[in-house]
Amino acid sequence: MTAFGPEVFDRLIDRTGTWSSKWDKYQGQDILPFWVADMDFAMPDFIKQAVSERLDHEILGYTRTPPPLVEAFLDWLERSYGWRVPEEWLVWLPGVVTGFNLAARALAEPGGSIIIPTPVYYPFLHTPRNAGQEGLQVPLVLESGRSRWVMDFDALRAAVRPQSRLFMLSNPQNPTGRAYTRAELNTLAEFCIEQDLILCSDEIHCSLILDPDASHIPIASLSPEIGTRTISLFAATKTYNMPGLSCAIAVIADPDLRRAFRRAQAGLVPGVGPLAYAASLAAYRDSGPWLPGLLDYLNDNHTQLRAVVGKRMTPVEATYLAWLDVRDLNLEDPGDYFEQRGLGLSDGAAFGAPGYVRFNFACPRPLLERGLRRLQKALRPA
Ligand SMILES: Cc1ncc(COP(=O)(O)O)c(C=O)c1O
Repeated sequence: MTAFGPEVFDRLIDRTGTWSSKWDKYQGQDILPFWVADMDFAMPDFIKQAVSERLDHEILGYTRTPPPLVEAFLDWLERSYGWRVPEEWLVWLPGVVTGFNLAARALAEPGGSIIIPTPVYYPFLHTPRNAGQEGLQVPLVLESGRSRWVMDFDALRAAVRPQSRLFMLSNPQNPTGRAYTRAELNTLAEFCIEQDLILCSDEIHCSLILDPDASHIPIASLSPEIGTRTISLFAATKTYNMPGLSCAIAVIADPDLRRAFRRAQAGLVPGVGPLAYAASLAAYRDSGPWLPGLLDYLNDNHTQLRAVVGKRMTPVEATYLAWLDVRDLNLEDPGDYFEQRGLGLSDGAAFGAPGYVRFNFACPRPLLERGLRRLQKALRPA
């Protein structure tokens, strides 16, 4: 038992009046939102306190990265993954999406292309176009009998072109909920080395590991060979449910790559704000019971969701996002179909996989249960 259980996470918090993207989309309609990836849980007290203490000072001026935050992040990386990196490898950013778009722009060349396994968090799919590059989408495949999504290295090899420079990885994977194993990451690292690709690894969901048999491994920590060709992106904002206080970190070992990344950033990307820095400092210092309590709660939600969805989804190893196969319902517009039935889900088409929907199960159980009753009906139409 942890100190944080249902008495904390069951609490329904009315988000009306906060201009919440998740809730305002369906304002005035009887549609429960299980779409965008933020949680309907209160942030932990120690985050709130850190922000509030910062607000006690009345000036929110331009702020340099606080040295205690640098130290807290480096310690967290070492404590969590046994990976100690020097301070000069870090580039602080106001968001992970900013980070992978900068990576694409830093490496852009005329006629260049970017390899992206799909389905994937939809801003990945806009990134090549933003950087004037071509996106080469390669579907993940279901491993036979193992009910998990894996990379198809034959298809990846076939997709690579001489001008392909970048591979974009989501690990843990949004939306399939995979936490790639060491063996899988080793194979991917070998592939990137063999094909001379730079790897941009979005690891924003790294602390949300639900399956006790799964773990997170930063791919750049596997070996110096893959480390020097990787841009790793981290943020504490998903874990502690503060995506509106965006602060992210790019870890870039190679000095030339770091220089190119900074050049792409120059003059365009604002600094991180003082409240976001304060919140991230509290987050990276945390090793208390709140996160284990959250993971237990999410695991129970996951169990309830699976009981309703069954084989339509693969088990979620990490994240709080489930990827539901609804192709057999032959829906013209799955997003609209579920909205008509009172459920706001993310349509798979935006992730590069029509016929699927993504369900965010990070919410208080009373809300989840209402949603699951609707989902059960929607999946078995009369
Ligand atoms: C895989 C992934 N990367 C990045 C983000 C967003 O990161 P940020 O808000 O720091 O740009 C999300 C949010 O859902 C995500 O799921």
